[in-house]
Amino acid sequence: MARPKITVVGAGNVGASVAQYAVEKELGDVVLVDVVEGIPQGKALDLAQAAPVHGYDSRLVGSNGYDETADSDIVVITAGLARKPGMTRDDLLFKNAEIVGGVVEQAVARSKNAILILVTNPLDAMVQLAWRTSGFPHQRVVGMAGILDSARFRTFIAQELKVSVENVTAFVLGGHGDTMVPLPRYSTVAGIPITDLLPPDKIQALVTRTANGGAEIVALLKSGSAYYAPAAAAVEMVEAILKDKKKILPCAAYLNGEYGVKGLYVGVPVKLGRSGVEQVIEIKLTPEEQAGFDKSAAAVRELVDKLKL
Ligand code: LAC
Repeated sequence: MARPKITVVGAGNVGASVAQYAVEKELGDVVLVDVVEGIPQGKALDLAQAAPVHGYDSRLVGSNGYDETADSDIVVITAGLARKPGMTRDDLLFKNAEIVGGVVEQAVARSKNAILILVTNPLDAMVQLAWRTSGFPHQRVVGMAGILDSARFRTFIAQELKVSVENVTAFVLGGHGDTMVPLPRYSTVAGIPITDLLPPDKIQALVTRTANGGAEIVALLKSGSAYYAPAAAAVEMVEAILKDKKKILPCAAYLNGEYGVKGLYVGVPVKLGRSGVEQVIEIKLTPEEQAGFDKSAAAVRELVDKLKL
């Protein structure tokens, strides 16, 4: 049986790390695409030469065009500009819309049955754009953000309580932006809600740090934004899809009335399997949580309106 084919568009830090984690898990063969001559080829070759040491047989190809991507099972789109210190994700809107729109057209023309995973910011608006541009059913277009935001929250909770990150689950809903909605009630350590383990002010501090998690790293790196954790999160989605795991993960998914939102991509828990987003999981929110979610959805709607999607 042929290995699954994964295209990664954008051979910058996020894209290259997605390719790396994907082959290290031997999830499929990887085609790395970028407009910059030599970069995708060079990184693909470098990763191919790590294969004997790591022990993966995934094939890696780098390309400046899309012909090599034909019949991909999954296309992960990371192409676009990253934030500089002081910029919000939303500052990237128009430039990245142009880039992502072009990428989607090229990619879907050659892979009509692929599932698209968007990583480029501003995330939720880019997913909406990719869905519109592709003409794909919404189940096959999904965005990576909630896993990253939840992973940050999990990291901070584990550090605070000095427990294994493996014991910590967390949920962060809403758009991938300053209005994201971490849900302490649904965040647990070995099944115990953190609201039973930490005082409210401590939880609030972790929530704030989570919402600023991306900016904290941009401020440190100065010339780029986070990439290891974003890539790891995207690869968790690739794995859930290709292995048909039916894993419940927070992702940017199309809402058709769920959570009181219609016709918009926003971060919610979904079931990810071989068909893509197989179900949107609705959880009962308190009035405050729902208000936070509504505010976040409104912020996404504003960007989507600016792009006339
Ligand atoms: C972050 C950027 C990638 O959250 O959105 O790090």
